[in-house]
Amino acid sequence: MARKKVTIVGAGNVGGTTAMRLAQRGYADIVLYDIVDGMPQGKALDLLEAAPIEGYDCSIIGTNNYADTANSDIVVFTSGAPRKPGMSRDDLLAINRTIVEENVDKIVRTSPNTVLLMVNNPLDAMAHLAFKRSGFPRSRVLGQAGILDTARFRTFLATELGVSFKDVQAYVLGGHGDDMVPVLSYTTVGGVPVAKLIAPDRLEAIVTRTRKGGQEIVDLLKTGSAFYAPSAGVAEMVDAILLDRKRILPCSAYLDGEYGIRDLFVGVPVVLGAGGVERVIEIELTVDERAALERTANSVRTLVRALGM
Ligand code: NAI
Ligand code: 2OP
Repeated sequence: MARKKVTIVGAGNVGGTTAMRLAQRGYADIVLYDIVDGMPQGKALDLLEAAPIEGYDCSIIGTNNYADTANSDIVVFTSGAPRKPGMSRDDLLAINRTIVEENVDKIVRTSPNTVLLMVNNPLDAMAHLAFKRSGFPRSRVLGQAGILDTARFRTFLATELGVSFKDVQAYVLGGHGDDMVPVLSYTTVGGVPVAKLIAPDRLEAIVTRTRKGGQEIVDLLKTGSAFYAPSAGVAEMVDAILLDRKRILPCSAYLDGEYGIRDLFVGVPVVLGAGGVERVIEIELTVDERAALERTANSVRTLVRALGM
């Protein structure tokens, strides 16, 4: 059986680390595409030279030519400009719009049956753009953000309580912006509701830190944004789709009435399997959580409107 094929468009920090994570899994051939001459080829060769040590045997190529991406099963879009200090994700809208349009147009021609996994910021608006531009069904266009935001929340909660990260279950829903929604009513530690374990003021501080989690890394790095945790989120989504795992994961998905939101990409729990987004899961939210989800949806809608869509 032929290996599945994953193309990563944009071989920068997130793209390169995603390629490494997927190579280490070994189940898919990998194509790293970028406009910079030599860089994707160099990263691909470097990754290939790790194969004898790591023990993977998939093919990894770097390219500046879309023909090499043909017939990919998933295309991950990590192209574009990252945030710089003082820049919001939304400032990236205009810069990344042009890049995403160009990338999506080319990929639709070379891989008409692929799944488009968006990472470019502002995430939910870029997923919306890719969906409308590609004409693909909603099941085959989605965005990574909720896994990252939820992982940050879980990290801070586990650290606060001195327990394993694995034992913290949570959802961060909504748009990938400062008004994202850490859903406390579904956040448990070893099965115990988090509100029973952490005082309200500490919990509020952790929610705020989660919302500003991307900015915290930008401020520390000073030249670029996070990539280790984001690429881990992407790889988890690729696993779920290519291995048909039917994982329930928070992803940016197109809503057509679910949660009372229509014609918009927002982070919600979905079932991810071979068909891409196989189902949107509607969890019951408190009145406050529902209002918060509405607020974050409005922020995404403002960006989508700014795109003229
Ligand atoms: P980076 O600057 O390290 O890499 C971006 C790459 O895109 C560069 O290698 C650049 O040459 C390439 N590129 C530029 N124009 C291109 C084009 N037309 N076609 C193909 N490639 C092109 O940036 P990084 O840190 O990898 O971030 C990439 C994007 O992902 C940014 O928009 C960033 O904001 C976003 N991001 C989103 C996250 C999320 O959770 N959704 C998390 C982290 C980053
Ligand atoms: C993050 O949250 C930059 O969106 C990216 O780290």
